[in-house]
Amino acid sequence: MKLNAIIDCDPGHDDVMAILLAGRTMNLCGITTVHGNASLENTTYNARQVVEFADLTSVPIAKGNARPLVRNPQYAPAVHGETGLDGPNMAPPTVALHPRNAVDFILESSHTIPDLHLLPIGPLTNIAAALNLDPTLPQRVKQISLMGGSLTWGNITPAAEFNIYCDPEAAHVVFTSGIPIKMIGLNATHQVLARPEYRRRVRSIGSTTSTHVADMLDFYSRGESGGTGLEGGAMHDPLAVAALIDPEILTFEPMHVAVEYVGSRTAGMTLCDGRHLGTDFRAAKARRRGEPPNAEVAIIANEKRFWELFLDILATYP
Ligand code: BDR
Ligand code: CA
Repeated sequence: MKLNAIIDCDPGHDDVMAILLAGRTMNLCGITTVHGNASLENTTYNARQVVEFADLTSVPIAKGNARPLVRNPQYAPAVHGETGLDGPNMAPPTVALHPRNAVDFILESSHTIPDLHLLPIGPLTNIAAALNLDPTLPQRVKQISLMGGSLTWGNITPAAEFNIYCDPEAAHVVFTSGIPIKMIGLNATHQVLARPEYRRRVRSIGSTTSTHVADMLDFYSRGESGGTGLEGGAMHDPLAVAALIDPEILTFEPMHVAVEYVGSRTAGMTLCDGRHLGTDFRAAKARRRGEPPNAEVAIIANEKRFWELFLDILATYP
């Protein structure tokens, strides 16, 4: 039985990989868009392009917030280009948007779709806005699997990962909502890379979708590797999907996660209480201190298994 899910995203190259993975493995009930890798106009345009080339046009796209809850928007052109999805040559989209905005769409879906899973893979503004508007939402969301934060260091500042950095106040709302959360942060996503060998295998599928994906991964890997020195772009966002469909891909550890939104140097940090992961793992568990866990934090990722799944799924697209 496929899980019911809404992807909340800012496409974004790796967001596209998440949409494609969920499009086949989940009952993808909607795509909601948010500011992030580029302006809301661009991320929404990009989402429309993706559902068209992948023939996923039956999935509604609802446009969300253009700005964080209280801060100014920040984009990521160094990694995703000016459009947010530079690289491939895609046809302009024609598919219409859903008439409701993303926040209304999420709230309405929570009433009609049983066991709803939310997959936020951009700044958490839309999810926080929905929670602020209707505090009963947590009762109707089965689980959140999000890409954001880090157990170690960030990619925007030493402390902060991009999605949380863009809207830390929203992230605070989400992490204190009481909804069961899986947090897939940089410490795990940097273990799964679009290495040249995998990019070659993507291109060799030879379909329109795989060619667009290969062009995306080549562009994105240049930008990401420029920052990280790693062998390819990290498959951040699709890991938030993989977390819910294959328990072998990610290993999680329950922790309390607090979002720092005040610190002058640490705003956007996900402060994960991993003190029980000290030297003697088992004994330390018994000595757990601090607040009770509010999230399952990904600690280990299986790169090979992720790519086996992703390549199999990609081959099913036109
Ligand atoms: C996250 O930031 C964005 O650039 C990616 O799409 C991903 O969601 C990684 O920090
Ligand atoms: Ca993203």
